[in-house]
Order: sequence, then C-alpha cells, then structure tokens
Amino acid sequence: MTVQTENLSGIDIRAEIERLRKERNAVILAHYYQKPEIQDLADYIGDSLELSRKAAETDAEVIAFCGVKFMAETAKILAPEKTVILPDLDAGCSLEDSCPPEKFAAFRAAHPDHIALTYINCSTEVKALSDIIVTSSSAEVILSQIPPEQKIIFGPDRHLGGYLSRKFGRDMLLWPGVCIVHEAFSETELLKLKAQHPGAPVAAHPECPPHIIDHADYVGSTSGILNYAKAFEGDTLLVATEPHIIHQMELALPGKTFIGAPGADGQCACNICPYMALNTLEKLYLALRDLKPQVHIEEGLRLQAKKSLDRMLEMAGGTVGKGDLGAR
Ligand code: 13P
Ligand code: SF4
Repeated sequence: MTVQTENLSGIDIRAEIERLRKERNAVILAHYYQKPEIQDLADYIGDSLELSRKAAETDAEVIAFCGVKFMAETAKILAPEKTVILPDLDAGCSLEDSCPPEKFAAFRAAHPDHIALTYINCSTEVKALSDIIVTSSSAEVILSQIPPEQKIIFGPDRHLGGYLSRKFGRDMLLWPGVCIVHEAFSETELLKLKAQHPGAPVAAHPECPPHIIDHADYVGSTSGILNYAKAFEGDTLLVATEPHIIHQMELALPGKTFIGAPGADGQCACNICPYMALNTLEKLYLALRDLKPQVHIEEGLRLQAKKSLDRMLEMAGGTVGKGDLGAR
C-alpha cells in the first residue's frame, strides 16, 4: 500500500508539477476516469488504445501515467526505454483481479483449438498468454478480421465479450470477469431517469451488463462516448460509464446537460472507479519528484506480452479514437 506520510502543506502542487514536468522531460497521460484536476493538467487524455499509442510514440523520457496499473504496464511494454511512473501502484482493476495468470493458462490449455482474444484490462502475464489484445475501441474491427470458423476464448470481461458475441452472432468462450463499476448500474434507476428525461439518449460503455446495454442508444469506448456526446443534437445525455468522463463533456459542451446513470439506490458513489480514484495531484507530484513508484517488467515477459499488443496495434490500424463500437 502506498501511504503518503509527508506534509505537503505550503507547497504549490500545481506549480511544482509544472516545474517537474519540464525538468524531467515528462509527459502526463491521463484516462478519462481520472479526477478533473488531473485531467486538467494532463498533456493527453484518452481511452486505453489512444493512451497506448501515445506511450509508444512519445519523445518524453518519463511517462507519468494517471490511470490504472494495467495501463501503465502497457506503456512500459510498448516503451521499455522510458521511465514509467504511476502515482499509486495500488490502482488496479477488478477485471485484472478476476483473471489470475495460472488459471487463465489452465483454461487455455483445456481449449487448445481456441485463440485467446483478450481485453487490455488484464495483467502483463495474461497478455503474454494471449494471442491478440483488444480495447473497447478496437475490439470490433479486430474481431471482424478473425475467420468465422476460428474458435475464440474472450476474457476477462464477460460483458464486453457477450456484447461482441451478440453483435457479431459469434459464439466465444467467455471468462467470467466483470468491472465492478459498470456492474453496479441499476436498470430500475436508469428507467426512472429515462422517464424523468423523455427523449434523452443513453450512451453506455460495453463493460455494462446487458440489461443496461439494452437501453443504450450508443455503445462505445470512453472516447467513443465522448465523440457521441459532442455530435448529439439534444440537450440532455444519460451517461452509463464512470462519471469523471462527464468533465470533458461539460468542457466541450457547456450548454448541455450530462447525467451519470445511477447505481442501486439511485445515489450511491458506486460508479466511481475506486482504483482510478487512488491517484491524486499530491501523489502525482511525489511521483514526478522521486521518480517512483515505477513500473518494472522482466524483459522476457515484456517481449512475450508485446506480441499480443503489437497484433492489436497492427489490426486496429488507424481506428484510434474513431473505430469505437458504434450504434447498437
Ligand atoms: P476505455 O478503453 O474505453 O477507455 O476503457 C477502459 C476502462 O477501464 C473502462 O472501464
Ligand atoms: Fe477496471 Fe472497471 Fe475501473 Fe475500468 S472502471 S479500471 S474496468 S475497475
């Protein structure tokens, strides 16, 4: 557990981050689920695929990754010569936790005629055991390139896998993992919200369970949802994904109303990702100052994991930020 014990009162954290960013030749990458104060000072904000691409391309010497661990590890796999820091190394992901490498290896071994198409929300070890990685913005274009007769294991998100299976009419063996954040949306509360805002469309992330997806007008990655918000012509949009993304919508479209879909009692904070929330400005400052915590990956493992990530980058082509899952 990373515990911040230092007294930082009296330090202008934002000014120090600015100074250190230049001094360290660092780039700050942030996911849309980060707190607004982190999004506001990031060099780039994006979905998982866009941030992977940015990490692979950057000239910076240090990548300060404001997201979760599997994202920072992906950056290190693709840019091993860079120093990759994550403000809080405990920023994990329930999907990664659901899929221990030894169990995944046994599952693969039990199905030797299947390829493993694996969601990027997994450990480096599971990436190394996989054939092709996908993100929510690249899954569809990648799946469409796999011959129909090829059998597929899809893990660890059974909701994304189930969504793709239904959309493509294609059976896949699904690993039983879920995102605890998207799993917590309540259909009953969403229907109440729709009744309060007649005609307001619903944009949902494919990590949502089917009873939420069934009410969505649009399903896509975080970037896809943001692009949909920028293009839709109404006044009010209901957003079924982690609510910190609404910050970018409000910045881009100040006159419109964006409402986060509710959890079970209509007002819990259960749709805030507890892992993403571990990152703070103070921890980012300390990470830039001390260049830790750093992400380290053993070279043999990195090279093995890079194969499945490289396949994703090749097969996704130029779909970054555009090739989202689209309308249902
Ligand atoms: P995106 O690739 O859509 O940003 O999703 C990442 C994620 O963890 C969603 O919960
Ligand atoms: Fe993982 Fe869900 Fe958090 Fe995304 S929102 S990082 S899938 S726990």
